[in-house]
Order: sequence, then structure tokens, then C-alpha cells
Amino acid sequence: MPTLTKKSSGKRNIPIGTVDFWETTSFGIKGSTQQANFKITVYEPNTIRVQVSQEDDFSPNPYSVVTEPAETGLEIEEYDSYLKLKTGKIHLEVHLYPFSLVFKTTNGQVINEDDSAFAISWLGTEVSTYKKVQHDERFIGLGEKTGNLDRAGKAYVNWNTDYFAYGVGDDPLYMSIPFYIGLHHGLSYGIFLDNTHKSTFNFGASNNRFIYYAAEDGDMDYYFFHDDTVGQIIGAYTHLTGKMQLPPIWSLGFQQCRYSYYPDSEVLSLADSFRNKNMPADVIYLDIHHMEKYKVFTFDGEKFPDPKAMIKSLKDKGFKVVVIMDPGIKTDPGYGPYDEGLKEDLFVTYPDGTVYEAQVWPGWCAFPDFTNPNVREWWTEKMEFYKTAGVDGYWTDMNEPASWGQFTPNLIDFHYEGEEVSHRKARNVYGMQMARSAMEGSLRQNGSQRPFILTRSGFSGIQRYAAAWTGDNVSSEEHMLAGIRLVNSLGLSGVAFSGYDVGGFAGEASKSLFARWISIAAFAPLFRAHSMINTNDSEPWAFGEEVEEISRNYMKLRYKLLPTIYSAFYKSTLDGMPLAKSLAIDYPFDNIIFDTAFQNQYLFCDVFLIAPVESHKEITKVYLPEGDWYYLFDSKKYHGNQVIYKDCPTSYLPVFVKAGAIIAMQSDIRHTGEQHDGILRIHLYFGTNESSHTHYEDDGTSFEYKTGKYFKRNIKWLGEEKTLVFDSPEGALQSTFSEIKLYIHGKYVSSVKVNGESIKTQEEDLAFIERLTDFDPLPEHLHPYHTAKNTCMISIPNHRKAFEITFD
Ligand code: NOJ
Repeated sequence: MPTLTKKSSGKRNIPIGTVDFWETTSFGIKGSTQQANFKITVYEPNTIRVQVSQEDDFSPNPYSVVTEPAETGLEIEEYDSYLKLKTGKIHLEVHLYPFSLVFKTTNGQVINEDDSAFAISWLGTEVSTYKKVQHDERFIGLGEKTGNLDRAGKAYVNWNTDYFAYGVGDDPLYMSIPFYIGLHHGLSYGIFLDNTHKSTFNFGASNNRFIYYAAEDGDMDYYFFHDDTVGQIIGAYTHLTGKMQLPPIWSLGFQQCRYSYYPDSEVLSLADSFRNKNMPADVIYLDIHHMEKYKVFTFDGEKFPDPKAMIKSLKDKGFKVVVIMDPGIKTDPGYGPYDEGLKEDLFVTYPDGTVYEAQVWPGWCAFPDFTNPNVREWWTEKMEFYKTAGVDGYWTDMNEPASWGQFTPNLIDFHYEGEEVSHRKARNVYGMQMARSAMEGSLRQNGSQRPFILTRSGFSGIQRYAAAWTGDNVSSEEHMLAGIRLVNSLGLSGVAFSGYDVGGFAGEASKSLFARWISIAAFAPLFRAHSMINTNDSEPWAFGEEVEEISRNYMKLRYKLLPTIYSAFYKSTLDGMPLAKSLAIDYPFDNIIFDTAFQNQYLFCDVFLIAPVESHKEITKVYLPEGDWYYLFDSKKYHGNQVIYKDCPTSYLPVFVKAGAIIAMQSDIRHTGEQHDGILRIHLYFGTNESSHTHYEDDGTSFEYKTGKYFKRNIKWLGEEKTLVFDSPEGALQSTFSEIKLYIHGKYVSSVKVNGESIKTQEEDLAFIERLTDFDPLPEHLHPYHTAKNTCMISIPNHRKAFEITFD
């Protein structure tokens, strides 16, 4: 390709210009224009990459994409002024004079097109792609971004930022995922800008001509996805950037955090409180006060004289310990990690080779360069310190990286897998590389156990290494709802496992706020309560008896639902789908779901419709999308495509179950290491539709499932034939459940046929769960469980063979 000489001076916008040369490559085409080199590569029929650079060579991001282009039977047609690249899903027109791209469906409908005047342009080093806005186009996703579900009319910046007590409309926050999904005319597409510099996405703010995305420097390097559904687009994006690994089952239980629990006696009595109060929980966090002078890889000898014994005692009570790891290493001569870091050149430096220092909790700190593989390796070795103490999980905090002043000088150097770049290119991936190192360290220190890493900062692909939480939120109603949208948006952007600090990190939650928050979070992928130093106690029993009881009920419900939740996590490792699904995934062209009154609603594990509502509201509007829905607490059926009003005292979160849903539950357990009673409760919600559920079990913590040690059974509901089919199971393990109790909601039948043989049902006077709380404000005659007469139950052995249950 010709060597490029023209570069934008930055004074005015310079578009890419006309194509002067092109040729085919193994998976697409490449060529050059007056201004740039370009390359277009087909990765999958639904995924096309566009690379454009003013340099002679492209400089791809080595961190996010984990797949290579595949053979797809691409066809290239040449016309007078354009080329057509045809895959089974996308027809891409590459216009040559000037260069501009039009992505079409296979039958010629425009999905997405460049503004042909500007297409790809430069202003100095800043490179942008300008796109026409399609009629009524909506934009969803973009990761951890505040604001409405539909991002039209707003602009966002990707620059990982430590933001204490952020406002519900503030931007940017801790994690950047430059991937969004566009929706119009029944079509959906995704765009992932694979450039780690600070970037901007403008979805029509301050102009009515185009939307654009721009990076401060580097290549225009983006992937375009198009498929039939939003779910398939998320699938294509996570095929490209990786899926979540199956987490240990204990990380799906309740997690209690505090900045900070100390000394050891306080941690132990916290654990006892959960057990004595009969509130299920699995995880206790050690925040920064576990360390001596906030030095990572130390324990404070006074507060924690024998961490190993403390952790052992917690384990005996069924708790796992997660410790915080901050990147800043105190510049304290004599402190091993600092001395080693200096000696082995592990720290981020200024261009003259001196170590860059900034202040964080420990005072002045040096920062390991996690973009250097040797540094990541060193960190994994250091983690032996925690493993020896018995720690099971790791929390990578402050990894934007944060420092007091929050303004890191751009000139500092990073390794960036050998490319040697400045902070401008490295910042957005620093946190993700720290989380990666933590995950690799967990594996190195105990390769037989699945890692659990919780991270604050990240970039596209972070889902391969860690779960995420939404940082320093605030105890307010609007923050509670904003956190739900952040989690839903992360889910649209490949991060399936995320959550928020229940109760709010900063500030004081009111009684009702805490009660509502913990009820909603029982239906969040990550279920963790956390609060800040110098605030009131915020454990679920700290808000009085009534809130304690509401909390206990929802915590118990979470544990009873673990067979469903764990199966949904397993499914997500295969299809990349979030556990908390914004309604925009399944109902993207139903305008009502974007209404601000309903935009927080989501599906949990595909079967529950959660309608979050402020704690002070006694009644709320809920939008039920198409299909039929059952109210969770009394199995009353509602038709979809309508707005209903529902009572919502703090004890009753509006939750609905989709008709046709198959929900698997177990008996009460106090933590995930405890055995259930051996009975799998399958709840079937009658519907005329077809549906299916894959029930998945394994040992919950090891990798043995990878060599076949699991139990997996598909269960199908054939609504028309009123038949529930249990396929024969796969996998080498026996189910831990020897018996199945099938609860039928929405239809009373006196008998059913199991493989043709008639069995009488028993009438069940219970709704899905028992009366929630004695503090329930509903008058006795209105109690949902009284009206739940339409539930009946049969009990059958959990055969390894296939069987069918038919209803008349
Ligand atoms: C900031 C984190 O966001 C917060 O969760 C943590 O408690 C503090 N750092 C102290 O470690």
C-alpha cells in the first residue's frame, strides 16, 4: 500500500476522501484513500470489522477481542462506484468516491450508514465516524453509563474515573465499554469501537444531523454487528470479546461488605449474627482496614493478629472471605512489594525512567504496570500471601487507577504488551488488566477452584475476568433506580455479572429504602450490601425488626431460587446473555418499555419481570409486555400489552412471572455449602406458549464440570399439548435432588399423567412463597397467599430417564 503523507493538522476537519486503491484479502478487502489506509474484515456473517488509520500500520487493541475472522463464504461484487461485501447476514456497500459505508440487510434495507460527507474524519489526532440518524432510531447499552435506557440526544465519554458519590446523571464513571446497540424499523445492530483512548459517543446531542463516535487518537477500529435479535447481537459481541466464566456458586449468595469491618472479633460476630438471625449469607469482605497502613499484601497485626485462624473459623461457619486489593504500592523502602517493584522495573514510570508516584490510601504510591505481562505475573505470585491465609475471592478496587486529585498526567509510560504507550492509550485498560492479573493469581494460587474477582474498573472484555459493581453510589431512591439501569446497561454490553451496593455506599438509607433495595437486589446478578466508613450500621438487621424480616424473606427467596439462578449463570457462560435483562433485549420495538416510568423494568433469569419502585410508593404502575404474566405472590394472571396498577408495600416488590415459565427451587439453606432437603421444586406457570428451561448442577466450585462432571436436564413446556417434557439428563453427575415436586400455577388439575400413568395432585394453599412478613401492611383478607388456590402439586422421583407429564 502507498505510504501516506497527508495528516490532518487539526485546524479543520479532514474526511477520509476517495479511494485510490483497493484489493481483496483472505476475509475482506483493504486499500487506501487520499487520507488513510483501510481494511474491512468479515469475522462472522453477523460481524464485520472496519479499520482505518493514518499510519502505515494499524495498531489494534490487544486486550478486548479474543476471536479471529472465520471462513464465512464472503462474496464481493464490484460496481462502478462501490463494492458490495455480502455475508449471510449483512450486505456492506463500500462507496469509493468518496469512501463511505452503508450497511444493509440481505434484502437491501439500510441498517446503518455513514454521513457520506464526513464518513470517517480527523481533527488532528482525533478520529471520528459520523453516521446518519435513521428515523426514530434509539441507542441502548454503552456499559456503565447513567441516564435513560434510550440514549438518543445525549453524549458520553469513555475515560475510567474514580467518582465518589456520583450524581445519577454524571459521566464518566469507573468502567468503559464502547459498545452500543442501535434500533430502528424493526432492525437492530451493534457497534463496538475498539480503541482504548478516551472516546466520545454522541447520540445526537447538540446537533440534528448525525450521531458520531470519536477517539482522541489511534485508529478508527470498529466492529459492526447485525442479526435478527438484540440477544443475537449481544451474543455476537460476547463471541468477539469473550463470555463470563462460570463463577463459584457461593458468589451468587448474599455478600456483606463494609468499609471496614475490624478487628477480627467484629468480623466473627458479624458472621454469627447472620447465622443466629437465620439470614442466609456466603461472603464477608475485608476492606482496606485489614491492611497495615493500607499496604497491599499485609494484614494489620493488631486488628488481625491471626488472619488464618479467623478465616478458618469463618469457613467453619460457611463463609468465604473476599479481600480488597488496591493497585497503589506504598513507596516505603523496606516494604517488600515496593522494593521488588523498584528492583524489577514493575512500576509505571515517567518518560525519563523515574517512577511515577501519586497519593492514594497508603499515602504516596507507585503503580504496578498491569499492561506488562511480567507485572501481571509478579502480582499473581504475590497473591500467595492471601491464599496462605485462606482467602477465596478478590476485590480489585481503585483500579481506574484512582489517585487523590483525580488527574493523572498523560505523559506517563505504560508497557501495553510491548507497544509502549502513554497514559492516553493505557488508562482505560489498566483496571481490566489488574482484574485479569487477580483472576490469574487466584488460579495460580488455587487452580482447582473457580476464581471470584469483583472489579470497579474495566473495559470491553472485562467479563472474562471479573464481576463488576457500580462503585460509590448514594443512599437515595433515585440512586437505587439508577443502579438498576447501570446494571441493565452493563448487561446489554457483555457484563452479565454485576450489582450495586445495596443500601447505598455514601449517606444513610432510610428503613424503607433499605428494605426495598435489598428486595430488588435479591433479583440482581450480584447481591452485595456495602456502606462507607462513618455511616450508621447498615447490615440487614440494623434498620429494625420489620426491615430485618423483609430482608430475611428476600434473602431466603434468593437462596431458594439458586437452582434457577445458577442454571441461568451457566446459560450465560454459553450465550453471553445478562442475568438482569433490560426489556429492550426481548421487546426492543415496544415503545412503552422506553417510557421513563417503565425503563427500569427487567427480566431476571428470563422468567421474572421485576418492576423496581421507590420505597415510599404504596402503589405503582407496571407495564406488562406481550404474553401473559402471573403476579409472583398469588399467581394471579394478567394479560400483557397493558399497564396495570399494583400495590407495592415494602414487603411486596412487584414481581411477575412469565406464562410458560419453569422455575426450579430448593429448600431453605443458610449458605451455598449447606445441603438442601433433596427435593427440587419445579414451578410451572401455565401458558399456551412453548418454553424451556435447562436445569444445571455441578459441584459449584471446581472445574470438574469441564470434564463432564455435571448434571444437566432440559425441561420443555409444550403449551398447546399441555405437556411438560423432562429430557434424559446429560453429564456424569447424579442430581443432588432425589425427588421433584411439581407445582402448577394458573390451572387447577386434579390429576396428571406421568408417562401415561395417572397421578392425583394435592391442593396447595400456598402461593409461590409464604406470607412475607408479620409486618405486612396489607389487610388480612387481601393477603396474596389467601388467593393462591390455583396451585396444585405432585411429587415424583427424579429419574435419570426422560419422562413426560401431561395435563388434561
Ligand atoms: C472505594 C470503593 O469504591 C469502596 O467500595 C471502598 O469501600 C473504598 N474504596 C475503600 O476501600
